[in-house]
Amino acid sequence: MQIAPFEIEQYFDRYEFTTPHLLCASDCETVSLAELLEMAGMSMSDFGRLRLGYTEAQGNPELRTAVSHLYKSVQPNQVVILAAPEEGIYLTMRALLDPDDHVIVLTPAYNSLRTIAQHITGNVSQWEIQPTENGWQIDLNAFERLVKPETKLIIVNFPHNPTGFLPTLNQLQAVVDIAQRHDIWLFCDEMYRGLELYGADTLPSATDLYHRAIVLAGLSKVHGLPGLRAGWLIIQEPELRAQLINWKHYTSICPPAPSEFLAMAALKAQEQLILRSRRLIEQNLQAAASFFERLSQLFEWRPPQAGSVALVGLNLPSATDYCHKLAESAGVLLLPSSYLGYGDQHVRMGYGRADFTANLAVFEEYLLAATT
Ligand SMILES: Cc1ncc(COP(=O)(O)O)c(C=O)c1O
Repeated sequence: MQIAPFEIEQYFDRYEFTTPHLLCASDCETVSLAELLEMAGMSMSDFGRLRLGYTEAQGNPELRTAVSHLYKSVQPNQVVILAAPEEGIYLTMRALLDPDDHVIVLTPAYNSLRTIAQHITGNVSQWEIQPTENGWQIDLNAFERLVKPETKLIIVNFPHNPTGFLPTLNQLQAVVDIAQRHDIWLFCDEMYRGLELYGADTLPSATDLYHRAIVLAGLSKVHGLPGLRAGWLIIQEPELRAQLINWKHYTSICPPAPSEFLAMAALKAQEQLILRSRRLIEQNLQAAASFFERLSQLFEWRPPQAGSVALVGLNLPSATDYCHKLAESAGVLLLPSSYLGYGDQHVRMGYGRADFTANLAVFEEYLLAATT
């Protein structure tokens, strides 16, 4: 049976490496292998000694221990190291869902968070984030109204791609309370956790609030290392963990040894990497704010509270047509919200790259040329 097109990735596949001025990437600026090792106090010869045999299916014990320390109450045996963060979404849906289950997904969402559940159960309700005068907001009553007797799972992503929404601690606790009250699993995609902006606190991980939370995290976005393909799941329930590892034998069997080695390095250098990403985003957001002030006729700007992306309203008939034309005629890449399953009146922007302000200047020049 065919699965829905992975529209975001198909779009990036078409444009990412041929369009010079990316303004919608969700990953922060990366570093070289040599820079990463230096930050971690490790050498190329340490890396050179790595043996390239099979690795442990659940992940290297030393790496699982380092990951467990990122949480309050997680044990190394509750960590599953993945071949890529994306794999964690697929494996969880496969291990958890049956065709007669109902699933609720916070939307708009990174495609696979919705489409894999849709593929397996055909029974997915969307809990939509709302645009308000004061930024994006969630309606907890609306979430609870979607719950049915056969609801098995709620899927959320905090900090949120694409809006940049971050719940308050009370809101996160309320999501957990609703899930707990109805005995529902909670899949919390925390790929952008750690990128809280302007001094905001990092929220507790869902795994530290609820034993039936499954948490996805990794090094692609916050640490700027998407080429490492390093990610993990935290699963407290042993039975689900075992089922998921069984599915993993059908996808990747075990994590790549070089990624595990370099993930250890990244966790050693984590403070430096995260600070670097956060500073870059805050600088870029200043440039973005004045850009949107100058161009307020065309854009509706809601600054993100966390993460590396934000969803910007576009005052044109079709964001999709506009983005294709922009990529082809100006070499500037924005992501239309249609590819996130969210109408055609918004674009996603990404603020974590070092060339953001230069690319924004190219975009502004193009806009000015178009109006003169
Ligand atoms: C919310 C979210 N979850 C998961 C992923 C997958 O991460 P990766 O591409 O590192 O596998 C992404 C990537 O864009 C994402 O935005």
